[in-house]
Amino acid sequence: MRKPGSVSDPLWYKDAIIYELHVKAFADSNNDGIGDFRGLMQKLDYLTDLGVTCIWLLPFFPSPLRDDGYDISDYMNVHPSYGTINDFQLFLDAAHERGLQVMIELVINHTSDQHPWFQAARTSPPGSPAREFYVWSDSDQLYKDARIIFTDTEKSNWSWDPVAQAYYWHRFFSHQPDLNFDNPRVMEEVIKVLHFWLDMGVDGLRLDAIPYLVERDGTNCENLAETHAAIKKIRAALDERYEGRMILAEANQPPINVRDYFGDGDECHMAFHFPLMPRIYMALSQEDRQPITDIMAQTPEIPEICQWGMFLRNHDELTLEMVTGDERDYMYLAYSADPRMRINVGIRRRLAPLMDNNRRRIELLNSLLFSFPGTPILYYGDEIGMGDNIYLGDRNGVRTPMQWSGDRNAGFSRANPARLYSPVIMDPVWGYEAINVEAQQGDPSSLLNWMRNMIALRKLFPVFGRGTLRFLGALNRKIMAYIRELDGVQILCVANLSHVWQPAELDLSGFEGMLPVEMLGYVEFPAVTSAPYRVTLGPYEFLWLELQQNMAATYGNL
Ligand code: NOJ
Ligand code: CA
Repeated sequence: MRKPGSVSDPLWYKDAIIYELHVKAFADSNNDGIGDFRGLMQKLDYLTDLGVTCIWLLPFFPSPLRDDGYDISDYMNVHPSYGTINDFQLFLDAAHERGLQVMIELVINHTSDQHPWFQAARTSPPGSPAREFYVWSDSDQLYKDARIIFTDTEKSNWSWDPVAQAYYWHRFFSHQPDLNFDNPRVMEEVIKVLHFWLDMGVDGLRLDAIPYLVERDGTNCENLAETHAAIKKIRAALDERYEGRMILAEANQPPINVRDYFGDGDECHMAFHFPLMPRIYMALSQEDRQPITDIMAQTPEIPEICQWGMFLRNHDELTLEMVTGDERDYMYLAYSADPRMRINVGIRRRLAPLMDNNRRRIELLNSLLFSFPGTPILYYGDEIGMGDNIYLGDRNGVRTPMQWSGDRNAGFSRANPARLYSPVIMDPVWGYEAINVEAQQGDPSSLLNWMRNMIALRKLFPVFGRGTLRFLGALNRKIMAYIRELDGVQILCVANLSHVWQPAELDLSGFEGMLPVEMLGYVEFPAVTSAPYRVTLGPYEFLWLELQQNMAATYGNL
């Protein structure tokens, strides 16, 4: 049986604009202080109006919520706070009716310690099939070369279980035991989960923490061949029954290792471009394009059907695991003046505060997000420039309620404010009275309207999602210029990474005679000649120019 997806083009994810959100944070329909699927359904028009094409839902499954739902205790249901499985189906169908795709999470590296599998494992005899669902050891000395990821809270990747009288392995919190992929029954269960959600009609799944599936002593237990073999099985199970669906790798690794998660087009369709993300911030702060051009030069080609997932911020900290020690020190200095802004190996802040609320910088970074090769992924609230709350624990400061209006609780919920799952942001600069959807919808020059405009423009040009990228040399390294090209469509993008005006001379040889047309205003720029092409950009300005054939030059002025 092959079930078609909700779209006819199997490569839909290459042209998508993905919007990441947590159902609990978006809209509360029953006023218990927690967002839910019925609330989210009421906001679908907002998302179609913004122009995004795919919703990525953070984990919404039953869970003790000690890692915001990444600690799952039942894979095939909905957390009662967010609604029922029927509500989910209604939401999914309503999204599809509007032409929106839906992605969910497949968190299979670990479960919650409250999952019935773990409860059964710890009480079952060593060596029994139930026990072998997890990774056990009599000592905590195995796999010593595996790094600790949650450095602020965990001292070891092993924890002692007094019931099992053994240590169990966990790459994240100690309440998240890792599943044992050496046990074929684990994969059988994972595939049941995969089928369950694909049968309901979800279009994509994000594979959480995918480099850590299999452990081997003497290795760092990341990216092992056995892990790739497991992903290939998941992909084969998807291809066997379904069409037009997608899996996306969360592999926070150097480019060469991320590349392997695409396989030969037989692992993941997409992978986040983790190495690029922090380097965008570094380039901006250093006012130098080199961190970006360097990492892009190290980014390997990927199979034709595959796609990079590009993002500026997400629900986690701005991770600095994939930069050098010096670069990390620099980033901490540049972007986390208050130590509360730091967590583990990263910075827990949203986009607008990272940009010091400078509208030009916010726009510049979004222009890179929308014009670099890959599919852009927006984090809810960043389209209106929401702030964060560094006084909340863990990464909760970037997970506060969506700010819909200046009404009570930011229009997110009618509950007693004390009952909200998280306080709304209330300070004079970032609070919901200053920053909210309703106000920005009524303001033609708002960030929200700017984002909507950019998304609409980006969607008119498949070259952004599917075309090639070539950087142009310019002596002035504060200017970054690149050509995107697909099927004869050529776009020249130029960005000024500095806080002051910058001139640049671009080498446009090969484009002589062409006419650059600015894409936001459809304004013709001087034609390209054999001389270097001169541009001057204001602070943090960017230009998108479509290089068109110069009809006047070809046919003369008629
Ligand atoms: C990655 C998720 O993005 C993060 O939020 C979570 O804490 C870890 N995986 C562990 O599940
Ligand atoms: Ca609710």
